[in-house]
Amino acid sequence: MLIVAGAILCLLPAPASSAGRTTTFSVLSFGAAGDGVADDSEIDGDMLAPPGMGYWPKARRPLQWLNFKWLNGFTIQGTGTVDGQSTSLQRVSPANVTQHWYVSGVKPTLIRFYSSFNVGVRNIRLTNSPQCHLKFDSSGSIKVKNITISSPGDSLNTDGIHLQNTRNVDIRSSSIGCGGLGKDNSLACVSDVLAEHINVENALYGVRIKTWQGGKGTVRNVTFSNVRVANVATPIAIDQFYCDGGSGRCRNSTDAVDIAGVAYRRVVGTYTYQPVHLACSDARPCTGVTMADVSLSPASAGVLRQPLCWKSYGQAMGMIEPTGIGCLQRSDGFVMPLTRPFNYSC
Ligand SMILES: *[C@@H]1O[C@H](CO)[C@@H](O)[C@H](O)[C@H]1NC(C)=O
Ligand SMILES: *[C@@H]1O[C@H](CO)[C@@H](O)[C@H](O)[C@H]1NC(C)=O
Ligand SMILES: *[C@@H]1O[C@H](CO)[C@@H](O)[C@H](O)[C@H]1NC(C)=O
Ligand SMILES: *[C@@H]1O[C@H](CO)[C@@H](O)[C@H](O)[C@H]1NC(C)=O
Repeated sequence: MLIVAGAILCLLPAPASSAGRTTTFSVLSFGAAGDGVADDSEIDGDMLAPPGMGYWPKARRPLQWLNFKWLNGFTIQGTGTVDGQSTSLQRVSPANVTQHWYVSGVKPTLIRFYSSFNVGVRNIRLTNSPQCHLKFDSSGSIKVKNITISSPGDSLNTDGIHLQNTRNVDIRSSSIGCGGLGKDNSLACVSDVLAEHINVENALYGVRIKTWQGGKGTVRNVTFSNVRVANVATPIAIDQFYCDGGSGRCRNSTDAVDIAGVAYRRVVGTYTYQPVHLACSDARPCTGVTMADVSLSPASAGVLRQPLCWKSYGQAMGMIEPTGIGCLQRSDGFVMPLTRPFNYSC
């Protein structure tokens, strides 16, 4: 399907201003066979996206740069890098500001899989996306292994992997970020996610589940294990009230994506702001939250917050540091708050 070996391939349509001409590259001329037999899915070189909005054809909203649809049994692997070439607004010359993603408001995801099953993504590096780096939508049986997602902290977007309507996801030995579920009152269904052997350094969040308020659906059976953090502001976070750009910008809503069965096992390292931030909704509390062997210590003396634990039920076991994750107590004998019945199905 796609092979980029040992070369820098720059997929660069001409600027829209130059009479709307676009350039099409055939992957066949880069060595792909496309015969349905040869394994063409290796990225060993660097793929560079057009550097700004001005380079994209105007006709279509570029919601993603590389879009894979309706695939079954497909793997992208290799030692290459997919570079979205998005820089922070501050680093763009004044003359080029109008081409910037931030100004255009239409920011593409770097790689998106839609309605695809048995998909593997291995070893590649993703960087500098104007939006989320890797997204799976309405897909299933996904294996992500040994990928690196790294973008500077002041990038337009540092989201790692977005999962939407996706089941059976196995993410190993990678650095990941997480996406927002339930945006625009949508239905979000995510289940059976295992993320392990994760290193996160110098980041705002370590492992975070964020769901937009007003969303519907469920997040079930998610496990984060063997997570090492260093200098991370908030290593463990659940936010059921997510609203991009601050709470003032979203209409308040009691609906929330239901979160049940999230386990944090062996999460260790240092934080710079708050070790644990579990902010679940009054209407749909988080249930079945397990922490086992969580050990987080301050990176340095500073303004630090106590762990927050709001409307989150489950159990803590093994070594837990710091203590005081108050609401996370054994649910035996604990009266679970009544919640309204669901009027949707996942
Ligand atoms: C992980 O990916 C990197 C970069 O592509 C590669 O050099 C390394 O060999 C991979 N590790 C394994 C265990 O496959
Ligand atoms: C500004 O954009 C032009 C293309 O329109 C590009 O050639 C040039 O390198 C950019 N300059 C900077 C400083 O980003
Ligand atoms: C939970 O997800 C894991 C994958 O992480 C899967 O192996 C397991 O069967 C799931 N458990 C249930 C009860 O579905
Ligand atoms: C939503 O509720 C929060 C907490 O009560 C409040 O701070 C915020 O201003 C409200 N936002 C809107 C848009 O009403």
